[in-house]
Amino acid sequence: MNFETIDTTVKALWRYDYDTNIQPLRDLYEVAKREQWNAATDIPWEIETDPAQVGDMTAPGTEPFDFVKALSKENQIELAKRKSAHLLSTFLHGEQGAMMICGQLVEVVPDMDGKLYASTQVIDEARHVEVFHRYIQRLDRVYPIMPQLKALLNAVLTADLWQMKCVGMQVIAESLAMGSFKTMMKLTNDEVFRRVVELTAQDEARHVSYGLIYMKDEIPKMNEPDRDRLEDFAWTAMTLLATTPQLRKGEKAVDPMDVIYEGLGIDRKMAASEMVSRMSDPEFVKSQPNPFRDYAYPQLERVGLITERTAQKYIDAGLTG
Ligand SMILES: [Fe+2]
Ligand SMILES: [Fe+2]
Repeated sequence: MNFETIDTTVKALWRYDYDTNIQPLRDLYEVAKREQWNAATDIPWEIETDPAQVGDMTAPGTEPFDFVKALSKENQIELAKRKSAHLLSTFLHGEQGAMMICGQLVEVVPDMDGKLYASTQVIDEARHVEVFHRYIQRLDRVYPIMPQLKALLNAVLTADLWQMKCVGMQVIAESLAMGSFKTMMKLTNDEVFRRVVELTAQDEARHVSYGLIYMKDEIPKMNEPDRDRLEDFAWTAMTLLATTPQLRKGEKAVDPMDVIYEGLGIDRKMAASEMVSRMSDPEFVKSQPNPFRDYAYPQLERVGLITERTAQKYIDAGLTG
């Protein structure tokens, strides 16, 4: 069996007045009901995609790395598939995290409109788990969860304030997901995958809207100590994904990318050194999509979580565009 458990405590809140008190959230609930789709029947799974394009997310002629260009055509195709399976496994685990966190939101948010909407998002995320799992099976296999992503999702699952769950999931994680899916949608030549990310990004855009509407209304009402904690939580959530967690004594880190490289006869030290040297070129870094900078940071600004106390940290981390 392949599972693990963590302890979480949530304060479930009953609401006994059922009338609408946040109209934009009720409107979003109506949209969510209308825009449901079925991962089993609304994706053209039967389309025969050119095998060279399945899972390829690099626009033709834009491969930046020499160690990839040096591979045979066959191995380049195989590398693209395995790399995509690895990347999409991250999203698959993220979707499961989102499904569980939304289940918590149904319990903890204090408004009936917030609860009704969050319940629609649970089924959205279930559909995303289903669709990514199915697509990954066309490519390769499911890779283990990245420790950084697990740290972020666990921080949100165990957060004590409901506003932290809402910011961590709906404002930060959902913006990152929506941004990444939009980028993938532009780059892929696989019609099946394009449809997968198109429909998923449409749901994620709604999930981001929920966070924005709710938190814009809520944050100004919070007391100062809680608001400070929320600002700090947002910063921590943004950095958790980018930070390699400390290993426990005796623990050995296995990078799935190393396994992929080795399987295709790529010298991983050479690959790593080429990547490090490209990543130290500021022009190259700037030209690469960065969903933290391009999608999550602007949303934090919109809900008022970039303040005098925290702004400098984001500037120093190069997240302000
Ligand atoms: Fe999702
Ligand atoms: Fe989502």
